[in-house]
Amino acid sequence: MSSQTRTIVVTSALPYANGPIHIGHMLEYIQTDIWVRFQKIRGHECIFVCADDAHGTPIMLRAQAEGITPEILIERMQKEHLADFTEFGVEFDNYYSTHSPENRHFAELIYTRLKEGGHIRTQVISQAYDPKAEMFLPDRFIKGECPNCGTADQYGDNCEKCGATYAPTDLKNPISVVTGETPIEKDSEQYFFKVSDYGDMLKHWTRDGHIQKEIANKMDEWLDEGLRDWDISRNAPYWGFEIPDAPGKYFYVWLDAPIGYMASFKNWCDSNDHNFDDYWKEDSKAELHHFIGKDIARFHTLFWPAMLHGAGFRKPSAVYCHGFLTVDGQKMSKSRGTFIMARTYLQHLNPEYLRYYFAAKLGSGVDDIDLNLEDFTARVNSDLVGKVVNIASRCAGFINKRFDGKLAASLSDDSLSQQYVTASDSIAEAYENREFSRAMREIMALADKANQFIDEKQPWVGIKDEARHGEVHDVCTIGINCFRQLVILLKPVLPKLAAEAEAFLNVEPLFWRDLDNNLLDHAINRFKPLMTRIDKVYIERMIEASKEAEAAEKKITSQNNDSSIEPIESEINYDDFAKLDFRIAKIVAAKRVEKSDKLLQLTLDIGNETRNVFAGISGAYDPATLEGKLTVMVANLAPRKMRFGISEGMVLAAGSGDNELFVLHPGEGAKPGMRVR
Ligand code: MSP
Ligand code: ZN
Repeated sequence: MSSQTRTIVVTSALPYANGPIHIGHMLEYIQTDIWVRFQKIRGHECIFVCADDAHGTPIMLRAQAEGITPEILIERMQKEHLADFTEFGVEFDNYYSTHSPENRHFAELIYTRLKEGGHIRTQVISQAYDPKAEMFLPDRFIKGECPNCGTADQYGDNCEKCGATYAPTDLKNPISVVTGETPIEKDSEQYFFKVSDYGDMLKHWTRDGHIQKEIANKMDEWLDEGLRDWDISRNAPYWGFEIPDAPGKYFYVWLDAPIGYMASFKNWCDSNDHNFDDYWKEDSKAELHHFIGKDIARFHTLFWPAMLHGAGFRKPSAVYCHGFLTVDGQKMSKSRGTFIMARTYLQHLNPEYLRYYFAAKLGSGVDDIDLNLEDFTARVNSDLVGKVVNIASRCAGFINKRFDGKLAASLSDDSLSQQYVTASDSIAEAYENREFSRAMREIMALADKANQFIDEKQPWVGIKDEARHGEVHDVCTIGINCFRQLVILLKPVLPKLAAEAEAFLNVEPLFWRDLDNNLLDHAINRFKPLMTRIDKVYIERMIEASKEAEAAEKKITSQNNDSSIEPIESEINYDDFAKLDFRIAKIVAAKRVEKSDKLLQLTLDIGNETRNVFAGISGAYDPATLEGKLTVMVANLAPRKMRFGISEGMVLAAGSGDNELFVLHPGEGAKPGMRVR
């Protein structure tokens, strides 16, 4: 084992803030987390940073669809994402946002340096424009018929049916996804980063051991063709950072997204008393490793190193691409219920099952990874429960009951634990090289050895014979020590199980170096089952729940698609309607409800009495502006007990959502208490 301490900065790609984390994402965050945890227990300084990718058109439009500001949306998403990651045991040293002052600073700095170096140019280009929404449309927001095969409803970049790739202008009968209008072409000036200035640098860099061969080959296609300059600007309205010397132009989300790695790291430095430049200056000795999916390789292996190089920063030590997750051999599918959100998974299954399964499948290449649900169940049950945990449960009972909970003071034979130590070098190498599947195979082979050993020694037979108790104590001590070593070897993959095992073993947090010594003459704690078997019922429930979660998500994201409008269900007749007593109400007081980001508490004057009403309109109104205004309320609704108090009626509102709701009448001609029909 290398004794030199390395300094390593690690990142996972920054998830978009326009939707929840799903198990496809989790493949990447788990892969990265395993690698990071491995480096940490090896004793290296390893800092794992990430952030939400909070800018861009889809986020702007989703916020609009939900009727909230983008700030509110990204804050909520960041919290949700981080909660998902944390429950999956993904432990960032910092989880930040690209919508941050640090990121604005670095985006401006890098842009300015590139510009000063002569690597930015402008050009007037023609782009698709939605005249109704008054905005330029990204490719993904134009749909139409495939120019190649004629299939309807295809995106502006490629056809799902025939696989043809094309420009959005090639689509037949194109429409804007935002409004359904036919887009027009409109000219505007844009800013381009002259990536081609870095062609030679990139040709070397991509062949210098920083990226996988397969990816280097792929990038060669671009490098050989000659790099095209990269459009890094977008026109208002856009959700992002305005370009300093170009009012009305914004940095394209992909410019400031990777810079978000730096911003998150800077934010970490500032609260942990580290010097940012030590890690990011041109000749830094620190390592920088990016984990990403193969879909975003070009940004990370061409544009990003060029930006860093051009702005005088260090380049990545490595960019590692992984493949995509499929479920039961197919693309994750919403209708089949295999498009599984991280949250849905967490509601049904132990996150460490998935961490283990991904580890058991991941190699260093870019092949897609299949989550076969049957294999998942079988593998977890047989390897983790049947092999690893079983060793502890077979030995702990005897130690606890017959030997006062204490391990033997010496071992008759430590050849088994020596075999583990010997094997650990190859396992470490596998972790280091992201050959996690090999690491898991080798670890399970070691677990098999311990189980065979226990099978042969049959402590359950020996325990019946007083004279053989010394032998049983010895065997179980060996077994517990094997288990301890397995826990160390699996600790990067199973941090929660490891923590529970450490508590059971009554030891401090284990490091890789602890493989070399045995736990002897040591009191352990009572054994509790560390992991239970997966029952396939849980999987079935998760699939069902995924179908439901998908339906809910669809409601939020669909824009002018009519499924966003709830069907009108039960009809009421005129008599029912006549029962509703609508009254003009004067808002005499309005205040925010603590701990609720939706509700305002209104005091309403309806002539003869005042009412206390909670209304979900705090996104739209500053309470101070409401006082003195008139609204319409349903006055004969039975009082309802809510979390914050009793609500005595309802106010009516119209609008698209939180920050756009109209409840008010300015005043003239109506008086509180008047009935409205
Ligand atoms: N925001 C960009 C990344 C910016 S990095 C400076 C982005 N976000 S994403 O949310 O779409 O994806 C985040 C990561 O998850 C990417 O590396 C992507 O490849 C990965 N995955 C998303 N879906 C995936 C699967 N189904 N399978 C495996 N990885 C997947 O891209
Ligand atoms: Zn087609």
